[in-house]
Amino acid sequence: MRKLKLGVQISGRGSNLQALIDACAQENFPAEITLVISNVEGVEGLAKAQAANIRTLTIPHKSFPNKEAFEEAIDDAHQKAGIDLICLAGFMRVISPYLISRWRGKMINIHPSLLPAFPGPHTHQRAMDAGALFSGCTVHYVEEEVDAGAIIVQAPVPIKPDDTESELAARVLAIEHKLYPYAVQLIACGFIRYQDGKIISKDTDSMPPIGLLNPALLS
Ligand code: GRF
Repeated sequence: MRKLKLGVQISGRGSNLQALIDACAQENFPAEITLVISNVEGVEGLAKAQAANIRTLTIPHKSFPNKEAFEEAIDDAHQKAGIDLICLAGFMRVISPYLISRWRGKMINIHPSLLPAFPGPHTHQRAMDAGALFSGCTVHYVEEEVDAGAIIVQAPVPIKPDDTESELAARVLAIEHKLYPYAVQLIACGFIRYQDGKIISKDTDSMPPIGLLNPALLS
């Protein structure tokens, strides 16, 4: 089976990148990471990719006269690498309509809340301040409006009464690491398709629950 070629964009720590690297290393996982792009030099995520022998590129946004020139360089790198799907994994630049128009339906993001609740930054503190009983994480297609594209998968995480922001963030992050590879599997196996801003599922009844496409992911 031809594997889906992933281009992962990061800006920092890269723990979701590592989760994708680990998933792709498993036998029969239907995707492979072909390229990792960071807009920040020397970040931890780049070292994680290099340790897994994945090609990396640093494309610093500061080196370009404007956003379009920066995104042109990113687009060019993904095109040349034959990327099928871009995974934003802690990429801290808002994607402009220029790049979105070139990758619509082929660019996904992970966000640490149950969208559409709490888009944007400081999600965990805002969820706690709002008295929410659950937070969680969402993998969604990327559209012009930030954190508002069609939702692929979500997982809830209970908020404990005495939670601190960092405790909640850590528990959500652990679930993100299972959810992102699962979303990639669903796309790569054809369970999920993007059409005109919406998700088309092949057959929702037959869609496996998280982890079941590859039970090792839940261990
Ligand atoms: C994650 O919480 C992700 O949901 C958000 O940015 C964070 C990135 O963390 N978009 P990491 O770099 O993957 O460790």
